[in-house]
Amino acid sequence: MLNDQNAEYWQNYKPGEIPSPTQEPPEELLKSISGRALDIGTGDGKIAEKLAKRKLDVFGIDIAKNIIEANIKRNSKVDYSVQDITKRTTFPDNSFDLITSRYTLTNIHQESWESLGEEVFRILKPRGLFWVFEPLVSASYSERYRLSNYLLKDKNCVYVFSEKNLAEKIKKKEDLEDAIKQKKVIRIVKHYTREELENIFKELKLIQWRRAEVNSPSGFKIETFEGVFQKQQNQ
Ligand SMILES: C[S@@+](CC[C@H](N)C(=O)[O-])C[C@H]1O[C@@H](n2cnc3c(N)ncnc32)[C@H](O)[C@@H]1O
Repeated sequence: MLNDQNAEYWQNYKPGEIPSPTQEPPEELLKSISGRALDIGTGDGKIAEKLAKRKLDVFGIDIAKNIIEANIKRNSKVDYSVQDITKRTTFPDNSFDLITSRYTLTNIHQESWESLGEEVFRILKPRGLFWVFEPLVSASYSERYRLSNYLLKDKNCVYVFSEKNLAEKIKKKEDLEDAIKQKKVIRIVKHYTREELENIFKELKLIQWRRAEVNSPSGFKIETFEGVFQKQQNQ
């Protein structure tokens, strides 16, 4: 299962070294928010701890125990816990005014989309906002999608290799098969289309979005989706 492979990868990741992009929820969005915020897949807590500098009660969850333990030791104002956003979390219904996700959904594959969408919807308050910053399907990755394609059902996934620069060297399916055998594939990331994201969070309304080209944490040019979904008042 792809999600289990990715979970294992992050569970063994070194705290303090998670590669993160620099994009953050914009000021225009934050100035309208008060109350409680949750950062899902918080990693080293960069977004959560920025949010905690505002008048917000901030929570951060991640599947990686060692990373969350290191975050807790910093004694920040963030309330951290080990939780999986694709399962039912401990938060009551309608808990949050804001939920953020940056480069978290890219680790989560089809088999969990339904529960992910339902959980975000359940814990968001009516009129609450969900800010998403995640990789979009990008033309610059087309060869890598094609290579991954014959082994995976989802045509917009990319194999991530343990050695830097290996992605450039692996051009044929035989090379990929060898890399898999030699355990050089460390995880498989998902690049989304806007339509897929809208479909996963179909009970939320996409109220604004833009695409932007950025350098991914691993240094490749990639298109990204920055969107804000809202839970409607009467849901
Ligand atoms: C690329 S890191 C991004 C960290 C952080 N959001 C940032 O932008 O700095 C992805 C994080 O998502 C976490 N993650 C992956 N799947 C998750 C899940 N199902 N529930 C909660 N966290 C998850 C990983 O453990 C990892 O810390």
